[in-house]
Amino acid sequence: MCGIVGAVQTHGNVVPAVLAGLKTLEYRGYDSAGLAVMTPHGIQVRRKSGKLSALEAELAQNGVPPSSQALAHTRWATHGAPTDRNAHPHCDDRGEVVVVHNGIIENYAELHGMLAAQGHAFSSETDTEVLAHLIAHFHRNGDDLHSATRKAMALAHGAYAVVVISAREPGTMVAARLESPVVIGVGEHGRYVASGIPALLNLTRDFLVLENGESARLTPTGHEIYDARGQRVERAPFRCEWTPEQAEKGGYAHFMLKEIEEQPDVLARTAFDRLRDPEGDVAFEDEFGLDDAALRGFRRLRFMAMGTSFHAALLGQMLLAELARLPGETLNASEFLYSARLPEEDSLTVIVSQSGETADSLRAMREVQARGGRTLGICNVRGSTLAREARHLVLTHCGPEVGVASTKAFFGQVAALYMLAVRVGRARGTLSREQGQARLLDLRKLRPMLDPLFESDAKQAVEAAADLLVPVRSCLYLGRGLQLPVALEGALKLKEISYIHAEGYPAGEMKHGPIALIDPSFPVVAIATPGRSYDKMISNIQEVKARQGRVIAVAARGDRKVAALADAVLPVPEVAELLAPLANVIPLQQLAYTVALRLGRDIDQPRNLAKSVTVE
Ligand code: M6R
Repeated sequence: MCGIVGAVQTHGNVVPAVLAGLKTLEYRGYDSAGLAVMTPHGIQVRRKSGKLSALEAELAQNGVPPSSQALAHTRWATHGAPTDRNAHPHCDDRGEVVVVHNGIIENYAELHGMLAAQGHAFSSETDTEVLAHLIAHFHRNGDDLHSATRKAMALAHGAYAVVVISAREPGTMVAARLESPVVIGVGEHGRYVASGIPALLNLTRDFLVLENGESARLTPTGHEIYDARGQRVERAPFRCEWTPEQAEKGGYAHFMLKEIEEQPDVLARTAFDRLRDPEGDVAFEDEFGLDDAALRGFRRLRFMAMGTSFHAALLGQMLLAELARLPGETLNASEFLYSARLPEEDSLTVIVSQSGETADSLRAMREVQARGGRTLGICNVRGSTLAREARHLVLTHCGPEVGVASTKAFFGQVAALYMLAVRVGRARGTLSREQGQARLLDLRKLRPMLDPLFESDAKQAVEAAADLLVPVRSCLYLGRGLQLPVALEGALKLKEISYIHAEGYPAGEMKHGPIALIDPSFPVVAIATPGRSYDKMISNIQEVKARQGRVIAVAARGDRKVAALADAVLPVPEVAELLAPLANVIPLQQLAYTVALRLGRDIDQPRNLAKSVTVE
């Protein structure tokens, strides 16, 4: 959580670009923001509680001078309330050393006590301010900024990405990383630093990623990277294929809406280049690194993830069981540490994460690896921690996802897991070439079949369904089999952006408790598309109706049986059963969006949330 952007250039005013970059990171935290600029007379800092727009308003009134060196931050509070005073950047008591920080300093109370005893006076309640004082302490005693930062970070416990500038050393920017991500941009006229690539796309397309424990000294014309022992590390930049436009709204009211509508293209980007239709197989890139023999060697699968990615992981488990006949389990990554230690030799653990920076998922991955297990990451961000540390990797190629409510990333993950199931099924011989070809054809046919979901009659159906949800406090989403993860995901989407309580449930469980809640003010969203669960879902809908409950059904276009029972229908195309989750989730995303819009919620930045949850 928290977003960092910093820049140091040979010339020119870099402040507007830094603020524009910060805007693309606002999804990481948005309770306060701040900016520091280097001037010939020292460092000027502006900080404001609230969103970046509040800081922009402050800057419009009380601006900063143009500068070729600037550092900015958007915050998701851990220590200290979201006030002006607690906003980053933080300075030492002489205003010489300025720090922004993403993460938590666990021993900050101890460090605070030590520095206070030496006469340091603090002006905020944050753990970060302690770092500014600690770095200043070493810097004043003769260490250059990089050395002072390294000494300070050696004393700090916890997780961090920090970027530091000093009025004593203008033209230098120091970054250090432990757990929280840091990328370095390499430009013709400067060096840049941020917590995510999208923030720097308007400045450069060439990037380096700092590894855990590393630090960097950046100047307008160069960068030096050091490992945890202080040894120089040589690393070549990589070129990022994302464009600045992909990280912008492109005329849509919200990123979430843009990202929902991008999903047919995500299918093409994630899948189509990888399909080997004549062989009925899938070819992942080199980083996948698992050949047929390795895939035949696994006896069990384990899937781990959090939030929306957890729902994709549940589908992955089902798809792998179905197509590759491999048993598996799916765990919340945060629960893994408390689970029994099982032998890892013949298991593959699949970690699913859009950002590749979710602390719970990374912790679980490292624990599996420490126990000798093999890990495969399914991830959307090249260069992220998961992408670098997982032993094997499939990238989802969804492009940057900015809306806090994940939509296209789920779609890309499920598409990738479907392809993984085909790949493993082909390697293990549970799918013949013809069967593989048929599965790939289903995937190719899906894309045009999704188009009607974005046409006006589908949007009208979503509006009519939203009429039933806007007035209520609570509701239930039901699904069975492959549609259960879709129900869970639909409920998560609604609750996180509309703040209406929504519970996803296996439909068979309804009679075992939740049915007691059913009345006209407690609607049920039921996924009743063709397939193995259809008849039982019809029975569930009838049971709800018999108790004066109101039903919104996701059903195949033209399904008269469902239409006769339900109060509102979200029509979907009739696609191959294993791919139905990809079609069915779209109207549920649209429904959540529409309800939240009608309720006037902050759709792209819902309260209390952050896009990338980098603390456990
Ligand atoms: O980046 P990840 O996929 O690891 O993120 C996991 C969750 O934090 C994320 O899916 C979260 O639940 C979203 N807000 C859901 O919309």
